[in-house]
Amino acid sequence: MTKLSNTIVPSVATRASECPYAVDVIAGKSYWWCACGKSRSQPFCDGSHRGSGFEPVRFDAVRDEKIWFCGCKATASAPTCDGSHNNG
Ligand code: FES
Ligand code: FES
Repeated sequence: MTKLSNTIVPSVATRASECPYAVDVIAGKSYWWCACGKSRSQPFCDGSHRGSGFEPVRFDAVRDEKIWFCGCKATASAPTCDGSHNNG
């Protein structure tokens, strides 16, 4: 058996949803996207990440528009969906 006591196991984000969240953002407002997937206020941070090593990602809205925030937490272009949720 391999001893893992000195190994740092990377945290894996919780898959909060199988698809993105559509949000009508407002110009001039800042939004904090939940990266850990544990927030109960998806897709935004509610502080539940504390101690997990994850930090929320800030999104500054420059115009009123609909933004598709990642729900699966696997996107490579956080905080928005890049289609990675289709990869399983
Ligand atoms: Fe995460 Fe689409 S919901 S990449
Ligand atoms: Fe997930 Fe804050 S609750 S990043």
